[in-house]
Amino acid sequence: MKKSDIKDIRLAPKGKKRIEWADNQMPVLELIRKRFSREKPLRGVRIACCLHVTTETAVLAIALTKGGADVVLCASNPLSTQDDVAASLVRDYGIKTFAIRGENRTQYYQHINNVLDIHPHITMDDGADLVSTLHGKRKKQGSTEILGGTEETTTGVIRLKSLEKQNLLYFPIIAVNDAQTKHFFDNRFGTGQSTIDGILRATNILLAGKICVIAGYGWCSRGIAMRARGMGARVIICEINPVRALEALMDGFEVCSMNEAARIGDVFITATGCNLVFRAEHFKKMKDGAILANSGHFNVEIDIAALHKMSKKKREVRENVEEYTLPGRRIYVLGEGRLVNLACAEGHPAIVMDMSFANQALSAEYIYRNHQALEKRVYAVPERLDGNIALLKLRSMGIRIDRLIPAQKEYLESWNVGT
Ligand code: ADE
Repeated sequence: MKKSDIKDIRLAPKGKKRIEWADNQMPVLELIRKRFSREKPLRGVRIACCLHVTTETAVLAIALTKGGADVVLCASNPLSTQDDVAASLVRDYGIKTFAIRGENRTQYYQHINNVLDIHPHITMDDGADLVSTLHGKRKKQGSTEILGGTEETTTGVIRLKSLEKQNLLYFPIIAVNDAQTKHFFDNRFGTGQSTIDGILRATNILLAGKICVIAGYGWCSRGIAMRARGMGARVIICEINPVRALEALMDGFEVCSMNEAARIGDVFITATGCNLVFRAEHFKKMKDGAILANSGHFNVEIDIAALHKMSKKKREVRENVEEYTLPGRRIYVLGEGRLVNLACAEGHPAIVMDMSFANQALSAEYIYRNHQALEKRVYAVPERLDGNIALLKLRSMGIRIDRLIPAQKEYLESWNVGT
């Protein structure tokens, strides 16, 4: 098996310091790592991880190795790898890593295959690329060797539920994304802040007074809308689901169709999980200087091919900012239309990834302990684990909450006590 494939091992010292910085803000994962170090619940378990290679992912990978696992890591997006982190994982923590920021499609899939070459017992995905490879080119391995997998993100869970629905799933999956301590926090507060962070780092624009058009009103878009408004932007939501659109309206946002919004927006952000959200019919209407960013998992939400076709010229005007010149107008695309928070910034802050990755670590342990009883289905994170993570997080912040007194418990369990 190949050792590792990273950009430059000399970047390790910088990566190590940054990993330690993230670690300081991940107290729940720290508790898990300490227990894992004592109990070794993952002794001898091979775990293949396809995650964004960030400082926070490093803290997770280290916790899994402390638990006795043999961890191998590749990137879940060609532009999200932090090369200094990859170098430190290899040099300082002995974790095999196959990830280079800016890798092309061939390298990206080569790295996925490198990771699967360890013949993992457990897969840990962010976007379901490991699982989809194990149901495509590596079917034999997928159908015979894997005990179970975990999935980090909404897009991945949707892909896996589709496999489950068609009765094609080869092994059980835990949908980490669906844990309350994941999507209520990571998707909303994490994406909300890191998306704005990516846009600002790439462009250094002032959001105050700008018209910010946000596609979707799921947890991620809600977070982005809330933070854009907080910075003084005038926010418009475009949402195809009528209930969510109504909710956005009553949350105080403008709501309209993308064709209407296209004419007036300054900054366009999509986080829907769907393809072709910003497309030719919209580009035709956009103002000179419009900025487009994607915060959905795959780079399918902005129709870059159509924009390319409509443009006379394309050039990089700043790091992570490409200018497309159309007749009489310029449109700017951030981070090649890939996840703006990871391509143009550092992803979600560690304090929120702490909960997401606590769910990952505990779900891996759960799969290993319970795989014989699990069916080939997509499971929720057990409620007990989810609730416990919230409690530990509160404690780590020095916050105590009340418990029901016996009379309250009794009242809540009764059916016959009215007015
Ligand atoms: N997804 C979003 N932000 C992330 C981060 N900081 N690390 C890993 N995955 C992420």
